[in-house]
Amino acid sequence: MFAARYEKTGPAQDVFIIDQVETPEPGEGQVRVKIALSGVNPTDYKGRNGAVSRTFDGFQIPHHDGSGVIDAVGAGVDPQRIGERVWTMLAANGNRYGTAAQFCVVDSQLARTLPDTADFELGATLGVPAVTAAYCLFSDGPIAGQTVLVHGGAGAVGRAAVELAAWAGARVIATVSNDAKALVARDAGAHVVVNYTDSDAISQLSGHGISRVIEVNLAANLELDIAISQPGMKIVCYAADGPDPVLPRRALMTACVTIEFMLLYNVESDKLWESVAMVEDALAQGALTMPPHKVLPLSEIAAAHDLVEAGSTQRVLLQV
Ligand SMILES: NC(=O)c1ccc[n+]([C@@H]2O[C@H](COP(=O)([O-])OP(=O)(O)OC[C@H]3O[C@@H](n4cnc5c(N)ncnc54)[C@H](OP(=O)(O)O)[C@@H]3O)[C@@H](O)[C@H]2O)c1
Repeated sequence: MFAARYEKTGPAQDVFIIDQVETPEPGEGQVRVKIALSGVNPTDYKGRNGAVSRTFDGFQIPHHDGSGVIDAVGAGVDPQRIGERVWTMLAANGNRYGTAAQFCVVDSQLARTLPDTADFELGATLGVPAVTAAYCLFSDGPIAGQTVLVHGGAGAVGRAAVELAAWAGARVIATVSNDAKALVARDAGAHVVVNYTDSDAISQLSGHGISRVIEVNLAANLELDIAISQPGMKIVCYAADGPDPVLPRRALMTACVTIEFMLLYNVESDKLWESVAMVEDALAQGALTMPPHKVLPLSEIAAAHDLVEAGSTQRVLLQV
């Protein structure tokens, strides 16, 4: 099969090898997916450039997210799954056959049914961003009637969080850094959008009774989060770019806020699958929509990684 892989970590233009590799067979409990589109996320370039250390077995075909059709199943998997349209999640987690190839093999439960109402492009955007967003929003239960602040509401996770929170009946406030991103967050369903670079951002965000903050940059926003908090507010952090924050204990104690950290690879299994179920409910009801995006051919995977690494405002998908 035609595939993009790397055998060592480094800059995208240096390490990607695009050629033929043996088509993998699904093992016990696995399915093979004929990939239509492969979605690129920051975690993919962090693994490829060595920013986070991950071991791999000889080579790594990257990307967790993708969409396609199951064309073969391993022992113990219902053969009726053959022909099923699916989206994938965590496909390359401990598995060298990620989605940047004509075929990937994954544990059966990581290939999720794609409803007929959702096209392959949407399917390839769901995995990492939507499941992360669902975890951050719903890990303490329903949020209907609550006010949720989503920082970076035009980002991949942020936009998914805006859509999911609005779908779940929360009032959603999003922060962005410019007008174009404000439009993206509004289109996704944010009721209030605030430019966090405005000098009066804190006053614009105060007084809303925010009970949950979906945090992409704790170091940059902690002071703001405390300033706009009410007792009992929870800050859920899913990103670790930039410097580690200094925790102002007295201010946090006084504010009576909780900070939670999560990493999709390591969350408790029950909560992971609850999050997936929320994504699937929202998807079935049409509440998750296609973000602004760009599609490149698989052969341009290095350029695709460079775009995501440079902070592309569009989701980047590879057509296989
Ligand atoms: N923990 C996990 O399991 C998990 C899962 C998914 C992603 N992540 C991590 O989360 C991060 C974001 O991923 P992504 O795919 O959503 O990336 P993305 O699409 O590039 O979005 C990041 C967003 O963060 C915004 N942002 C940056 N600093 C901000 C600030 N101080 N206040 C408000 N918004 C701010 C950016 O907007 P501006 O440029 O306008 O500031 C951008 O829209 C990455 O580091 C990724 O590795 C972690």
